[in-house]
Amino acid sequence: MDTTKLSKFYKKSHEEKISALFEAGVISDEDKQTLLSNNLDLNLETGSNMIENHLGNYPLPLGVAMNFVIDGTNKVIPMAIEEPSVIAAASFAAKIISTGGGFSTNVPDRQVIGQVTLKHVGNMAEAREIVLNAKQAILDRANEAHPSIVKRGGGARDLTVRILEETDQTGFPAFLSVHLHIDTKEAMGANIINTMMEGIAPYIEELTGGTALLRILSNYATESLATSQCVIPAHALKTGKYTGEEVRDRIIEATQVATIDPYRAVTHNKGIMNGVDAVVVATGNDWRAVEASVHAYASRSGQYRSLTTWGKSEQGDLVGSLTLPLPIGTVGGAISIHPAAQLSHTILGHPNVNELAGILASVGLAQNFAAVRALVTDGIQKGHMGLHARSLAISAGAKGEQVQKVADLLKQAPHMNLDAARSILRNL
Ligand code: MEV
Repeated sequence: MDTTKLSKFYKKSHEEKISALFEAGVISDEDKQTLLSNNLDLNLETGSNMIENHLGNYPLPLGVAMNFVIDGTNKVIPMAIEEPSVIAAASFAAKIISTGGGFSTNVPDRQVIGQVTLKHVGNMAEAREIVLNAKQAILDRANEAHPSIVKRGGGARDLTVRILEETDQTGFPAFLSVHLHIDTKEAMGANIINTMMEGIAPYIEELTGGTALLRILSNYATESLATSQCVIPAHALKTGKYTGEEVRDRIIEATQVATIDPYRAVTHNKGIMNGVDAVVVATGNDWRAVEASVHAYASRSGQYRSLTTWGKSEQGDLVGSLTLPLPIGTVGGAISIHPAAQLSHTILGHPNVNELAGILASVGLAQNFAAVRALVTDGIQKGHMGLHARSLAISAGAKGEQVQKVADLLKQAPHMNLDAARSILRNL
């Protein structure tokens, strides 16, 4: 990628931005023509084959965040999001983080979990032993239920058994949950796993004498973890009246607050998900699965806590880390048919699923850094409202060049709201 073509990207016109991406080698000539003709929409036929009762599409703005260096490689990050400040904040954070060498990621080989949960199992401990002893036969049956994933080098790899008992005297009966740990290769794997779980359930019923109540994947992707880390020199953090060391320490303290206070942790983590979700949506992944998994992971200690950690190195640098469970894929579902999802994978250089997971964790870390840095220094309203001004101008009815004019005047107005935008537009 020729990043020199991408400098001052945000200042370019729409056409210049698209040409710059082409010249930098990020998109093909065909993608360039598609973008220039604003032709990323789903056509009616594809849409109505995707969902029931399809009426039309619900477009979100698709943009790109700049300045990301992940594992030594420059990346342009596609993000689909309606919130005005997210892409600007991610790009700004990635720029500062690149002064320390960018992000380094660690994504161990992933597996996805499927569950068969049984009721009416007589002797739990005995049933557990029987199932564990039949492990290979169960794995074989699971793989026979979905031979194509085995042909692609994946398949069911391991089996564990959990006895589910409420400890707080709810009076619920106990259940037996049989987990398969499955390598779904590049797929998120929901269909593969659900087919396997439905395939093995009758055999597990036979083995245990129980009745299968649920046969489904678990979205709690504890075996699909991705970690991103960064080291930022303190001098790169200096801003306004704060020294770099002060900003560093305030970021560390703010993260301590989000670690002990769930009220702050939810907002802190929402900021992380601003970035993660935008890339998850842009790449055609299931953002509900990712959201559900991530927030469960944030509660794994028994209390909802910050997902990021920020600390100080011996040299006085700010050191950040984010680990996320990511039930995602790079093939299948919307990814293979949605034109905007396909373009997003092209912009990212067609990463494999582990690389995509590392990218998502890096974007989340950048987004958190940008938000917390702003919060502990100038506050976020300055930047937010600057970007919000354009949305207000459009809501007030401004068109074309009027939008920027109204936004600029609005920033100087005593109150930045819709009434003020309307009055500025009337005066223009
Ligand atoms: C706003 O969408 C996200 C923030 O609230 C995140 C945070 O408070 O850390 C700014």
